[in-house]
Amino acid sequence: MYNLDAPGPSHHLPDGSPALNGIHVNGSAHHAHATHGPLAGKKGLVVGLANAHSIAYGCAQQARAQGADLVLSCLNDKARSFVQPHADALQAPLLNCNVEQPGDLQTLVEQAVAHHGHLDFVVHSIAWAPLEELHGSVTDSTGAGFARAMQVSCHSLAELARLCAPHMRAGGSIITMSYQGASQAIGHYGLMGPVKAALESLVRYLAVELGPKGIRVHAVSPGPIPTRAASGIAEFDSLMEQAQAKSPLQRLVTLEEIGALTAFLCSAGASGMTGQTIFVDAGCHAVA
Ligand SMILES: NC(=O)c1ccc[n+]([C@@H]2O[C@H](COP(=O)([O-])OP(=O)(O)OC[C@H]3O[C@@H](n4cnc5c(N)ncnc54)[C@H](O)[C@@H]3O)[C@@H](O)[C@H]2O)c1
Repeated sequence: MYNLDAPGPSHHLPDGSPALNGIHVNGSAHHAHATHGPLAGKKGLVVGLANAHSIAYGCAQQARAQGADLVLSCLNDKARSFVQPHADALQAPLLNCNVEQPGDLQTLVEQAVAHHGHLDFVVHSIAWAPLEELHGSVTDSTGAGFARAMQVSCHSLAELARLCAPHMRAGGSIITMSYQGASQAIGHYGLMGPVKAALESLVRYLAVELGPKGIRVHAVSPGPIPTRAASGIAEFDSLMEQAQAKSPLQRLVTLEEIGALTAFLCSAGASGMTGQTIFVDAGCHAVA
């Protein structure tokens, strides 16, 4: 996972169907914009689109379909060439943001607020670790590699929350993406396991600190799906096969399902919830 130079995913689901289950990947997908959905009129920022396979894209698509107005971000101009048509279809400005570049996150939030006026929800869907660290053992991880993985994949959420909270004047929602490897040691997930554990803990602390402002914070924990980041994890195909075989629903989850849960957590329907890690994994987490 998390090697930006890795080739994009070429996976199909184990049943042979295309990985994206109906989401239009190439060309200009047409997206209906609801004016009366659960997120009608809500202003959102979605961080972390690499292409139309990205979980961030699934979240953006569902939020838009439920009526939200969006600002989107991708890493750099290379990513922009893949993402721009999809941002255009969602009628959303697309900005560059590399969280390792000082000031990038601040500029992103300033530009999102300049566009929207305020923010109602933010989706943080980024993670990265140096490939040699990810493919090595956690025992042998270097302090520098671990720290970079933590900064990009975990602390950037705290920074995003700090920057966005003052603009969530009527309360808001902050959602990040975790994985079951946070709470159980899963083969080949390596140092991303401890990093995701820290992320889930961070969600609880942010929920406590921002709760008095009416800001709710969650981690969504999807089962494995083929994305560019996932293609950096060794033997990811077999991880997906095992997840499908083990899951009560006997299948993988879809981008739409991950996006729909995320959209729900940003809606008034979830107003009594904060501080949770919520699985959307076809039930895989419930089975030993
Ligand atoms: N794909 C899965 O099976 C799966 C399962 C559970 C959780 N997740 C999580 O979902 C999130 C999104 O990953 P994805 O699977 O959609 O893959 P993806 O490759 O589509 O998205 C990862 C994003 O992280 C961004 N990123 C990496 N370094 C960055 C940096 N320095 N600054 C800004 N952005 C940076 C990439 O540009 C990319 O847009 C990650 O947190 C990942 O851990 C993925």
